[in-house]
Amino acid sequence: MATTLTINGDTHTVDLPDDVPLLWALRDEIGLTGTKFGCGVAACGACTVHIEGEAVRSCQIALADVWGPVTTIEGLGQPGNLHAVQAAWVEHQVAQCGYCQSGQIMQAADLLSRTPDPTDQEIDDAMAGNLCRCGTYDRIRAAIRTAAANLQGA
Ligand code: FES
Ligand code: FES
Repeated sequence: MATTLTINGDTHTVDLPDDVPLLWALRDEIGLTGTKFGCGVAACGACTVHIEGEAVRSCQIALADVWGPVTTIEGLGQPGNLHAVQAAWVEHQVAQCGYCQSGQIMQAADLLSRTPDPTDQEIDDAMAGNLCRCGTYDRIRAAIRTAAANLQGA
């Protein structure tokens, strides 16, 4: 059955079964490959996108259950107009292999939208479900602190 989605401000209609996960539509049908497949069982966070600004695991959301506009890493910011979290990621050179990083950034952006000045514990709690096999956790925390400071000074 066809499903119409709003993704990064654009309307897309995909002709897939209702129970297909959003992640598959994003990557395989629409070509937004910045969102990654890691585990497929909500255990890694690589597939994190926003629905109405809320970080969700797109491998776990069936197309029929997408309740609002979707934002992916491609829509969070643009070259020359990066989201504060993306800019902080660049400043701290967070990525190693990069595979987990779009999910990390989307999760961090969600955190700062709800908690503008998070404590270290709040950062760790919010990011606990986003795994990084390269072990970039210290740089992730530092970048989140920088992004929070920049957003508050904005
Ligand atoms: S691929 Fe969705 S949480 Fe790992
Ligand atoms: S940067 Fe390689 S998995 Fe996180």
